[in-house]
Amino acid sequence: MAINDEVFKSKITVYVLACWILAAFGGLMFGYDIGISGGVTGMDDFLIKFFPKIHERKLHATENNYCKYDDQMLQLFTSSLYLAALVSSFGASKACSILGRKPTILMASAFFIAGAGFSAGAQQKWVLILGRILFGIGVGFGNEAVPLFLTEIAPVQHRGAVNILFQLFVTIGILVANLVNYGTSVLHPNGWRVSLGLAAVPAFILLIGSLIITETPPSLVERGKETQGRAALKKIRGVDNVDAEFEQIILACEQARQVQKPFKKLFKRESMPPLIIAVSLQVFQQFTGINAIMFYAPVLFQTLGFKSNASLLSSVITGLVNVSSTFVSIYAVDKVGRRKLLLQACVQMLISQLAIGWILHVHLTETGSLDKTLAAIVVILVCTFVMSFAWSWGPLGWLIPSETFPMETRTAGFAFAVSSNMVFTFVIAQAFLSMLCHLQSYIFFFFSAWILVMGIFVVFLLPETKGVPIDSMVERVWKQHPVWKKFFNDEPPKNLQMA
Ligand code: BGC
Repeated sequence: MAINDEVFKSKITVYVLACWILAAFGGLMFGYDIGISGGVTGMDDFLIKFFPKIHERKLHATENNYCKYDDQMLQLFTSSLYLAALVSSFGASKACSILGRKPTILMASAFFIAGAGFSAGAQQKWVLILGRILFGIGVGFGNEAVPLFLTEIAPVQHRGAVNILFQLFVTIGILVANLVNYGTSVLHPNGWRVSLGLAAVPAFILLIGSLIITETPPSLVERGKETQGRAALKKIRGVDNVDAEFEQIILACEQARQVQKPFKKLFKRESMPPLIIAVSLQVFQQFTGINAIMFYAPVLFQTLGFKSNASLLSSVITGLVNVSSTFVSIYAVDKVGRRKLLLQACVQMLISQLAIGWILHVHLTETGSLDKTLAAIVVILVCTFVMSFAWSWGPLGWLIPSETFPMETRTAGFAFAVSSNMVFTFVIAQAFLSMLCHLQSYIFFFFSAWILVMGIFVVFLLPETKGVPIDSMVERVWKQHPVWKKFFNDEPPKNLQMA
């Protein structure tokens, strides 16, 4: 595509800002769901009602530190959400292509509201799990549509930063959930109901937002609504002349229309590079071990010997670090690029995990607790780990898969990214407490090994996508990369430089 991207003009209008922020509430819902369950499963009232045996076990002073919470049903409470999200992300991909991004976001909010109702009102375990499943379907729909929406309406020079609003809201959601849990843990016996029910508030904001936001120009054009597509592009760019950018969207859509079966096309040789990258980034994102901390921070800190309240407070601290460090990414992603952020973070995460593993290995016995100084050092190390994840693998795990697929496989390819995230989030949610029980401190060495692998992956296989328009990725990124170009039959055009 010979169009010069530098001519794309845009202004940041109040309307476009509102669209970004309202859509990003989808991220807040995801984050709230991630953050709320760890605190809830640590609450005695909740355990007494649904998991009395675990509550009994927790009371035994001589219990093995690492195994207090190892229970498949309790882990299922946390993980069922991700299973539902995994399955629903494929339905969401269809909804995104056939109905558009905007209605898919609306459907997500409806599922979230239903999920909040069922979980907060649950009297039986199955209703509780049903509530989690409804939340999960909401996550499947929201996580498919929101990053694509943000990427498609962002001007190219700010695309990274705009997309990272999704992750910023994920981190805010986690923090809000931690704060809510901190407050509701003293409300007996129904604090947990308040925690789960409050998810309805951001869900309503998302619902209203989904009525206000625009549909994205590529989605309108893809569905044959060219006039509306041009009008939407003018509205979000805040300028009258959008011809060059619109022409590029039309070209991309024409190519996309020739593909009748996007999922079939996705498994063709030339679709492999973005697919492999999207899936790997998501799998690696989970194998950093981030969710061991996000879900189970309160439980983990109790394992270290903190009292219940101190543990909740420590998770608020890690939540704050998570939010504030995401701003670094918003600032840096379109300046220093994706690769450097990911690599820097690998080094920082590796050092933090190795140090945590070593301290626990040497100093935490099965029934004792860490002394105060060491426990504080572990909290600091958890913060340095979370910090580096927050400016790298967290946001870029969503950004890169949303920007590297060509139009014809974008929603289908992104569905694979979302579902890979959910499979491995599920695996960590379901297995972490058992792994902690069996592997003990070695669990941190297990994650460290993965961090090493993902660093090597970035060095050799991840191309830089900073500043490349999304509809030029094939020519300017994939066909220029020493490894990935082998997946294309034709020679790359000579006049195009690798970005
Ligand atoms: C990940 C979540 C994680 C969160 C932490 C997201 O990008 O997908 O699994 O809990 O970041 O901030």
